[in-house]
Amino acid sequence: MSQTVELIYEGKSYTYPIKEGTENEKAIDISKLRDETGLITMDVGYKNTGSTYSSITFLDGEQGILRYRGYDIEELAEKATFLEVSYLLIFGDLPTQSQLSHFEEQIKAHSLPPEGIVKMLDHIPSEAHPMGVVAALVSALTAFYPKSWDLSVNKDEIMPTIYRLIGMMPVLAAMCYKNSMKAPKIMPNPKYDYCSNFLNMMFSTPGILYTPYPVVAQALDKLLILHADHEQNCSTSTVRTVGSSQAGLYSCISAGISALWGKSHGGANQEVIEMLEQIKADGGNVAKYVEMAKDKNNSFRLMGFGHRVYKNFDPRAKIIKKAADEVLGKLGISDPTLEIAKKLEEIALKDEYFISRKLFPNVDFYSGIIYRALGIPVEMFTLMFAIGRLPGWIAQWKEMIEQKQAIVRPRQIYIGPKQRAFVPLAERK
Ligand code: CMC
Repeated sequence: MSQTVELIYEGKSYTYPIKEGTENEKAIDISKLRDETGLITMDVGYKNTGSTYSSITFLDGEQGILRYRGYDIEELAEKATFLEVSYLLIFGDLPTQSQLSHFEEQIKAHSLPPEGIVKMLDHIPSEAHPMGVVAALVSALTAFYPKSWDLSVNKDEIMPTIYRLIGMMPVLAAMCYKNSMKAPKIMPNPKYDYCSNFLNMMFSTPGILYTPYPVVAQALDKLLILHADHEQNCSTSTVRTVGSSQAGLYSCISAGISALWGKSHGGANQEVIEMLEQIKADGGNVAKYVEMAKDKNNSFRLMGFGHRVYKNFDPRAKIIKKAADEVLGKLGISDPTLEIAKKLEEIALKDEYFISRKLFPNVDFYSGIIYRALGIPVEMFTLMFAIGRLPGWIAQWKEMIEQKQAIVRPRQIYIGPKQRAFVPLAERK
């Protein structure tokens, strides 16, 4: 029998259905609430609010489970490539060999940014943060592909737009890096796979070809898989919200990049390394920083710790911690910040403050250590997260369009002044 919830308000009873997902997650469907009762619900930060039905990612924060389209993240990180996972997220099933080859070829064929975009970058100050720069350049792509502005009409443009985004994003990221160094840009080279190509554009210089180590390219590929989707997080909800107004896909992704930038979200990976460096410079006194994070009069938080939905170990953090050990070992790098991070984790996980609030290391805690070992500069860390999250944003946008979702328009409770008479400027005190 289907379950319902009864609401009694002003002596009248109202019944609302319970909706259940394939993994038995339950929600009260209140879509008729306002029409029937005049009430709205209040849930600042949407801590208890479902915004959509989705078949892309399943996440159980209590058990520490993450699956894309039904496949465990551990298995995908071990056995698949990032572009295979991107295909899975966007189309719903793992690709056959010929589907994957076609997908990879199309991405390569659409990876060269328009000359105007490259010229725009030439005029951007070299010290600009790459997240702001790439958000602007992605948004500007609409100017060069005007049909993409309304994909509800120009449906033939959907796939080229998706290919361009996945193809150009690492190119723009590497060009931003070269811009920050005031160094010549390196164009994409179709002989490389996705991650090797990115590394080549980052680290080759004219005349000196950088040959990406397979171990480095594989580690990067794994990191991108781990970031590829995370259901209705802040940046993904932003992409879906912007898309619900029928704005073009480039604008939606640009908005997603901006939302990801903040330090409570993707920006945390840069903050983690800066925090670990600060602890190192301060003599490695880890306990002092744990105490600072617990002090309610101090705004300091342990970056890379805690998560809105994981109340258990973030499964991505477990994989990344292992990968950090492997990558540093294989590259023969000894990074004191990895030891500080491990010590910090050990102390925090035994501390009542962190235990009672279920605060565990999240995906950002160890990822920066790997990025740095791969030679990626700290200011680029959040952009690496964005490259990884891109297929998830695209898949969520595509699902929303296919669901013909209504425009996102939350309600509010107004707490400002009641109506008051306008006072002319001369009479104001
Ligand atoms: N250090 C110290 N205390 C913390 C931390 C932390 N990193 N995170 C949460 N708390 C405390 C917080 O002070 C609060 O304590 P109390 O109940 O006494 O007021 C309690 O834990 C609950 O925190 P909250 O801020 O209400 O939880 P939230 O779900 O709104 O925030 C979060 C989640 C990720 C923004 C937060 O844990 C945080 O700021 N963490 C550090 C930043 C970070 O690592 N962000 C990356 C998230 S993972 C990547 C991604 O998906 O974006």
